[in-house]
Amino acid sequence: MKAKITLLPGDGIGPEVVASAVDVLKAVATKYGHDFSFDEQLIGGAAIDAHGDPLPPATVASCQSADAVLLGAVGGPKWSDPNAKVRPEQGLLALRATLGVYANLRPVRVHPQLANLSPLKNEKLQGVDLLFVRELTGGAYFGAKTRTADTATDECKYTVTEIERATRRAFEFARGRKHHVTHVDKANVLETSRLWRSTVERVAKDYPDVKLEHQLVDSMAMLLLSRPSTYDVIVTENLFGDILTDEAAALAGSLGLLPSASLGDGKAGLYEPIHGSAPDIAGKGLANPLGTILSAALLLRCSLGLETEAREIEAAVDAVIAQGTLTRDLGGSANTAEVAAAVLRALVAAHEKAVA
Ligand code: NAD
Ligand code: IPM
Ligand code: MN
Repeated sequence: MKAKITLLPGDGIGPEVVASAVDVLKAVATKYGHDFSFDEQLIGGAAIDAHGDPLPPATVASCQSADAVLLGAVGGPKWSDPNAKVRPEQGLLALRATLGVYANLRPVRVHPQLANLSPLKNEKLQGVDLLFVRELTGGAYFGAKTRTADTATDECKYTVTEIERATRRAFEFARGRKHHVTHVDKANVLETSRLWRSTVERVAKDYPDVKLEHQLVDSMAMLLLSRPSTYDVIVTENLFGDILTDEAAALAGSLGLLPSASLGDGKAGLYEPIHGSAPDIAGKGLANPLGTILSAALLLRCSLGLETEAREIEAAVDAVIAQGTLTRDLGGSANTAEVAAAVLRALVAAHEKAVA
């Protein structure tokens, strides 16, 4: 298959983890005879430095004409002055809005080998298999902002259309999983949450085979740690989803492990690990590339329809974790390149077994 993939390495550890994932994509292309072309573009702080714009027009054009976009991370101390006129994160938010990728999928699984890394008791982690569907292009992230010397506001606005399209995705995914959707909100306080709740209930009527429950976000933050294995698909608004998924990363063992896929109505998508630019470890070869490599697997599955190839990458990552080639965040001493090389070796081994 022929596919055009835009690469946005971004800032901090972004270039390190994207390079690893590209090596994996190239290996898959070679083995399966696919023709992937890669177009690297600037975003975030790197784009501010080069053009004074965190999302230059050339980047937008490349992403819009691509089958899929793979992004590392944006941001860092260099661009974090609270008085700065322009921030790297604005580039990422504008890209998500421009591409219309309103449904952000963040799967969370716990590899048995890593359960001991979690602060939670091992038995609580048995069977944890979550899929967060985070609404990505609405809410407080995109509402009007005001600022005077002593007052600031961030408007949180949602329309029924925005809620419904994200919610439908969650119910559709639940049908292929355990038929259980947990909707997370703050309906005891927020009007937007009450609109979410009534909209989710109406959508749920179209999915009578899927069990729906509502959970307030404060208690959900606790329940995610006290009984994580009782959840399946979790759908929520933009800000709550951002916070809960970083929390959920502690279940898996490291923020560096979690991938994401951001989808709109078409096949094209934006793929990125859920972590940031990790300025504390950037440039040292310490970054865990697995979240980005798993994002590349989601890219193959969701945008290119290459399920076999996606599974092969996921199996290779599982094998590398099982054999213990791990970066420091997972208690290991391997560097980024060594982990990526181990994934490549596992891919070759899996492929040789499959064709034997
Ligand atoms: P972060 O996710 O960058 O880092 C949090 C902690 O996790 C750090 O200790 C870091 O070293 C560690 N970590 C993150 N990814 C890792 C990996 N792959 N391997 C090993 N360790 C990893 O969050 P932060 O420090 O709060 O934010 C830093 C910058 O990143 C900020 O400018 C923020 O806006 C930005 N950010 C960007 C994205 C994105 O581009 N999607 C996401 C989150 C944060
Ligand atoms: C994420 C990040 C972004 C978000 C930031 C960098 C804008 O934290 O992708 O989770 O809040 O969505
Ligand atoms: Mn985040």
